[in-house]
Amino acid sequence: MSATQDPVALNAWYAVATLADLYRVEETKLLGHPITIGPGRQVTSDARALPVREKFGCLWTTLGTPGREIFDIAEAGEPDRRFVPCGWVTLRASGLRVVENFLDMAHFPFVHTDILGSEPHTEVPGYKSEIRREVDEVWATNCTFFQPQMTSTRPEGEFARLTYRVPDPFVVMLYRVCPSAPEREDAIALFIHPIEAGLCRAQPVMYLLDQEATRTQLLRFEQVIFLQDRIIVENQRPLLLPLEPRAETPTRADSSSIAYRRWLKEKGLTFGTTAEPAAMAAE
Ligand SMILES: [Fe+2]
Repeated sequence: MSATQDPVALNAWYAVATLADLYRVEETKLLGHPITIGPGRQVTSDARALPVREKFGCLWTTLGTPGREIFDIAEAGEPDRRFVPCGWVTLRASGLRVVENFLDMAHFPFVHTDILGSEPHTEVPGYKSEIRREVDEVWATNCTFFQPQMTSTRPEGEFARLTYRVPDPFVVMLYRVCPSAPEREDAIALFIHPIEAGLCRAQPVMYLLDQEATRTQLLRFEQVIFLQDRIIVENQRPLLLPLEPRAETPTRADSSSIAYRRWLKEKGLTFGTTAEPAAMAAE
């Protein structure tokens, strides 16, 4: 797949490395463009130094000229939270498909059986989806779902209370009311590094209130969930995300995905979608 010329994709910030793991030169791609990430936290593309930022334990860069700084996560500044970066997982999929899968609660009982969902609790209770114009983000609020094992240390089933946020086309977040401190929420972000239109790596980064679970427990739990998702996401066709209305009749459960696709279309994003000029040949 070729290097994208999509200005919307080029002018965004992307997490491309974990700061704690930067100890050697790494050759990779961003949006199909070759980039080199150095241990001194510099990023170059075609001998050009790219802008960089250090945020949320990651190194961020851009190939273009972003119209704004990287979004904020208020929880990242709260000193009593555990910061848990979970590591990168490579997926043969469009990063946009990965975001959409993260937003989807309907797959919990079937893909994460007896962990994030179980039969007979298969129905997604009604929730609200919206494009928040003032911040230019997609939010889904009042989400609830019966989860047999919400976290690594909660073996009893309970209704999870969730909020989803898409602050950027290639970033998706989950806020989960914390079972041990119900007035507060765990914040979990999924950063996506789009390597090519149909290839990405993704890293969950968590800001947790939980002090009980060991790091190993937390990472193992995330890894099980993520590997289950990878099988689903990599087998979706078309590989890239269609932005036209779905061929299937959308259900109420899909409202966050509908808002996300509408928002991407309004932005004019084509990279990673079936609308990108080069995408037809690549399918
Ligand atoms: Fe999933």
